[in-house]
Order: sequence, then structure tokens, then C-alpha cells
Amino acid sequence: MNKQIFGGDWTEEKLNRIRKYLPAYVYVLKDKGLKYAYIDAFAGTGYRELKDAEQQSQLLFPELIEQEPQRFMDGSARIALQVEPRFNRYIFIEKDKNKISDLEQLKVEFPDKSQDIIIINEDANIYLKNLCSKDWRKNRAVLFLDPFGMQIPWETIVLIAQTQAIDLWYLFPLGVAVNRLLTRDGNIQEAWRRRLDNIFGTDDWFEAFYQSVKPQSKQLNLFEIDNNPSTEKTEKIANFELISQYFVERLKTAFAGVAENPLVLRNSRNNPLFLLCFASGNPKGAPTAIKIAQHILKG
Ligand SMILES: C[S@@+](CC[C@H](N)C(=O)[O-])C[C@H]1O[C@@H](n2cnc3c(N)ncnc32)[C@H](O)[C@@H]1O
Repeated sequence: MNKQIFGGDWTEEKLNRIRKYLPAYVYVLKDKGLKYAYIDAFAGTGYRELKDAEQQSQLLFPELIEQEPQRFMDGSARIALQVEPRFNRYIFIEKDKNKISDLEQLKVEFPDKSQDIIIINEDANIYLKNLCSKDWRKNRAVLFLDPFGMQIPWETIVLIAQTQAIDLWYLFPLGVAVNRLLTRDGNIQEAWRRRLDNIFGTDDWFEAFYQSVKPQSKQLNLFEIDNNPSTEKTEKIANFELISQYFVERLKTAFAGVAENPLVLRNSRNNPLFLLCFASGNPKGAPTAIKIAQHILKG
């Protein structure tokens, strides 16, 4: 069956990768004498939310959802809580205070883990800044960054990498935001430029994504003179693939290892929305982590 038939299927694609990675991660770490946590920095409610009526109406087989409500509707926080053997700690960060009571409910639903569930109602960047500055030598974590858009500055990514203890799954806003700010003629308003600088941690994206071209020279006859021979135009060369490669290269400047095959998540009209990236911070653990993640990203 063609998986693309489900509207909003990309959410399921994304969560499937997390669902597969977490047990493998615990399996590798469980006898190493380290403490390990699952950190969900954009946790939501714990349930997957079908975002709009369009997505719901595109579910061609709603009966499948009725048959398997848990599997289809669990959000990332609940997926992590179901992993056995378990994590030592669960940190759920959510800025929207209306979602906090739903997250609190997870303590009731998973009573054996309730002591180890920490729920934080704060901006993820602020909380992570503090968390990443702790002593991580005996600790490890998998961190899931699942924002709606460009909420994560490069600065946060660097702090995460510097712990040398965190494996990161990052839903990079490839099509929903970044590509839209990259106008065709390179004439990008200052506020957008700043947002791009902020997410990439540099301004050299402009050189990577644009080129100068000479307009096609006019065929002049013997008696004509080209009055404007040197006018150059700026042209966008970036496509989704180039932006993806560029971002993977950026991640490599910070992390011990980065998966070479991030997954493009597309909507039902086949438009790229996000890029699911994986990076591993611990130099010793990275090769194994990357091998597992690359395999999962392929599947
Ligand atoms: C895509 S949803 C997360 C879905 C969740 N990972 C899941 O699979 O169920 C993004 C969440 O991030 C929250 N959010 C947005 N900006 C935030 C920020 N700066 N810090 C923390 N949470 C934020 C939103 O309220 C929303 O619940």
C-alpha cells in the first residue's frame, strides 16, 4: 500500500523514526554505567494532534485509526514512555501552558515512571541553555527538537553539541520556512536575513544559495554597441537538496557525527515540509549511533 495516501502522513513518518531509535539507544547504553534521559523540547500534549480539518479529511481510511488508536495517535512523549527497558529520566518541555496539564496526566498513566518525569513550562531554548551547561560526563540523552518553524537558533544547537553527550533528532523547517525566505532574486528583506543567519549560525548561506549571472548577451551586429555589458543579476540556485546538504554540513561543524541521509518529510501534495536530521555528540558513541540512525532514516 502506498504510504503517501494518508494526509499528514509525514507526522507518522517522523514519529516512526523516533519510535525505532529509542529502544535501540537504550539497548546500546543500558550496561555502560551511565544515566540516560529522553528530552522532548517541544513536547506538545503527549498525543499526536491532527492539525487541521484538511489533514483529517484526507485520511482515506479512518477506520484504520479506530482499529489502532494508540499506535496512530501517540505523540513523541508517550512513545518515549512506552520504551522498555526504560530511560532513567524523561524531560518534557512545553511553552504553551495549556498543554501542561495533558503532560501532567502522563504521570498518572505511567505511574511506575512518574517520579522520573520532569515537566517544564518554559521556552525550550532557555531551558536547554541551562541544561547543557551541567556536567554531562556521567549522563547521556536523546533530545528531540520538533518545532513548528524557525524557533531554534544555531546557538542552541551548538550548546547541545558541546555537551558531547546528546544524540539529537531535529526537525529542520526546510520547506515550511527556510526555502520560503530564500527569494528567487536574492533580494531578501533584512528581518528574513537575520532569521536565516540565526538558524544557520552564519551568513555564508547567501554565497551557497545564490550566484551572480550575466544576462544573456545580446547578439550584436557589427554596427551595434552593448551599452551595459557588465550588469549582473543574482539568481537563486538553492533547491531543497542543496539546502539539506548545506545544513548537514553545518551540523558537522558542531557534532561528532551526523547522519548523511536526513529524511525529507512531504505533505500529501508532495511538497517538502521538514528535514528530519540526526546528529550525535559523543565522539566514542557517535559511530554506532550514526549507523543506527542512518539505517532507520533509510527505512
Ligand atoms: C510540533 S509540536 C510537538 C509535537 C510533539 N513532538 C509530538 O510528537 O507529539 C510543537 C510544540 O512546541 C511547542 N512550542 C513552540 N515553541 C516553543 C518553544 N520555544 N519552547 C517550547 N515549546 C514550544 C508548541 O506549543 C507545540 O506544542
